[in-house]
Amino acid sequence: MDVTQAVRERFDGRAPEYDDSTMHRELAAAVAGFVSLDGVGSVLDAGTGTGLVLRALATRPEAEGVRLAGIDLSPGMLTVARAALPGAELVEGDATVLPFADRSFDVVTCTTALHLFPDADAALAEWVRVLRPGGRVVTATFVGFEPGKHHRHHGGGDGAQPAPVAPYPMHHDRFDSVARMAAFGAAAALRVLRHTTWTDGNDTVLLAELGR
Ligand SMILES: C[S@@+](CC[C@H](N)C(=O)[O-])C[C@H]1O[C@@H](n2cnc3c(N)ncnc32)[C@H](O)[C@@H]1O
Repeated sequence: MDVTQAVRERFDGRAPEYDDSTMHRELAAAVAGFVSLDGVGSVLDAGTGTGLVLRALATRPEAEGVRLAGIDLSPGMLTVARAALPGAELVEGDATVLPFADRSFDVVTCTTALHLFPDADAALAEWVRVLRPGGRVVTATFVGFEPGKHHRHHGGGDGAQPAPVAPYPMHHDRFDSVARMAAFGAAAALRVLRHTTWTDGNDTVLLAELGR
């Protein structure tokens, strides 16, 4: 089975319970709050899952009239997203090969999904293609990720059981510090413009805004 198929199956399986994760809901709210909507008319959420970040963005008064779009490999996750946010444009597909025109978005967000992409550099280049001049990429990536620790907060285990081993690679260490995010962005001629750290006391996540 290839990585794409394995990721799709894993998240199709997690879709019905995914929104039970307090961690993912609270992180999505933090990411949505971190995104600057000043002058922004459109946002694309890459690896949108159940659309938690788009849903949190939609609650901000400044998001009124903003085009909200998301793309994900998992039809199961998208079914939840579509039910929760019927007004959004939610597309099944690979965030590395976007079915969107050049210069069609002001912001691309990606929350706890970059580590799953087989070719994150190609994904970032693709996001730059669809961004308008002055557009920004906002990422949220785990710092010091430990699968067992994370698993407890998914409603998927009580900590007594070992975490399941994902049937695909996870490239957390490429994105787990500001310096590493800066190196990642530099390959697409982007800089880290702002960053902050979010934690719920268990998981720690780096939020970064990249732009020219
Ligand atoms: C941990 S979930 C995060 C979902 C959402 N961003 C959130 O914050 O709740 C990771 C998501 O990335 C999606 N994903 C992984 N690789 C992808 C790819 N190459 N293209 C599109 N979606 C992908 C998975 O299907 C899954 O829904």
